[in-house]
Amino acid sequence: MSSFRIAILGAGPIGSTLGSKWTKAGHNVAFGVKDPASERAQRLREESSASVFIGSPAESLAKGDIVLLATPGHTVEELVRTHAQLLDHKLIIDATNQLTKGKTAAEGKWSAQEPLNSLATLQTYAPHAQIYRAFNSYAWEAFADPIYQGIQADLFYCGPEGDTQTIIEQLIGEISLHPVWLGGLDQIEVVDNILRLWATLALFQDKGRNNIAFKVLHR
Ligand SMILES: NC(=O)c1ccc[n+]([C@@H]2O[C@H](COP(=O)([O-])OP(=O)(O)OC[C@H]3O[C@@H](n4cnc5c(N)ncnc54)[C@H](OP(=O)(O)O)[C@@H]3O)[C@@H](O)[C@H]2O)c1
Repeated sequence: MSSFRIAILGAGPIGSTLGSKWTKAGHNVAFGVKDPASERAQRLREESSASVFIGSPAESLAKGDIVLLATPGHTVEELVRTHAQLLDHKLIIDATNQLTKGKTAAEGKWSAQEPLNSLATLQTYAPHAQIYRAFNSYAWEAFADPIYQGIQADLFYCGPEGDTQTIIEQLIGEISLHPVWLGGLDQIEVVDNILRLWATLALFQDKGRNNIAFKVLHR
């Protein structure tokens, strides 16, 4: 398996869960956060192996060829605009959703802005990047433990076919999920509909954030 330099913008539940598994898989992970001196960043430093870097978004991006976006949705536009040069030509995975944290669950209804993804922003400011949509459609708990009664959950994603797709599938596999490609970026709404389906069951029908993921049955 190849090892990569991965910049993760955001070290909340999503960034830290994926970053920890990718570090264990042998990748060099560099987190970029708003405040690298915060208590949360300090805690992460203590919990992580010595090879893990935690700094500003610019410092993190300078250390990564692959970028995972994992900050609150409302921060993405400014982050991407400010760091456009550092993002362009890279392989970018957008795990962010244009949601206000906790609001959808608390209100018991879908309160998302449309679209959920930041594809238009990324294509505007990083036109040469290879962009994938992945890791946005389940709660972080599914990434921490993707096995449901002995069955490995599928992770649905989209983005360009080719060499970079192999990399994405390796990274999904290292989270212990099974990758299911839904097509190019023209299929991004299909990926985002997985989140809508997940929220309908896990949040609105109260089946639990930790209890829902999907598997394709085929024969
Ligand atoms: N939580 C989930 O289960 C889940 C599931 C799927 C997708 N998502 C999506 O993934 C994204 C991350 O969610 P999350 O719950 O993991 O964390 P979050 O609470 O949305 O984000 C926290 C992280 O983002 C950093 N951050 C905030 N503003 C920033 C800025 N302007 N520049 C750089 N870093 C900034 C914070 O840094 P500081 O600590 O320094 O403030 C912190 O590390 C969101 O878009 C969310 O919709 C979340």
